[in-house]
Amino acid sequence: MSRVPLPYSQKILELFRNPKNLGKLEDATVMAMAGSPACGDLIAIYLKVDDREVVEKATFESYGCAANIATASVLTEIVKGKRLPEVWRIGWKEVAKEVGGLPSVKLHCGILATGALRRAIRNFYRKRGLKPDWMPEGLTLEERQALEEEKLAEVLSKRLKLE
Ligand code: FES
Repeated sequence: MSRVPLPYSQKILELFRNPKNLGKLEDATVMAMAGSPACGDLIAIYLKVDDREVVEKATFESYGCAANIATASVLTEIVKGKRLPEVWRIGWKEVAKEVGGLPSVKLHCGILATGALRRAIRNFYRKRGLKPDWMPEGLTLEERQALEEEKLAEVLSKRLKLE
């Protein structure tokens, strides 16, 4: 059976081969993960944030696919030098556009990367006991998607163990 290659943009393919900001950030102020190690779609985002809430550095680790790696790479570039309230507003659509578009079956990979970023921002404020008024109480689409993928991976891994 032959495989039809996914219609990835040139930019995704380039970033997959040569991602930027890949690896753990040793002096991170905060980090967050999204996805599940059970199925391999796991991403971690690390942020170094200064006293003015400006992102100085951002890196990522990914066990996801090319789309996940490319979106995380772009995301960690976009956030640098921005204040957290501005970073929060970066949604998955903007990231998908930045990588030249995502195939529809790979949209969730970009959403997962953005979900991890939003979690990291929530963690930053939670650690300080702060609740900025611009941050919604309820989960955003990106965070809900991350949660759904985690639940799905858990169900699938339990099912496989039973068989
Ligand atoms: Fe799992 Fe892309 S991160 S398919």
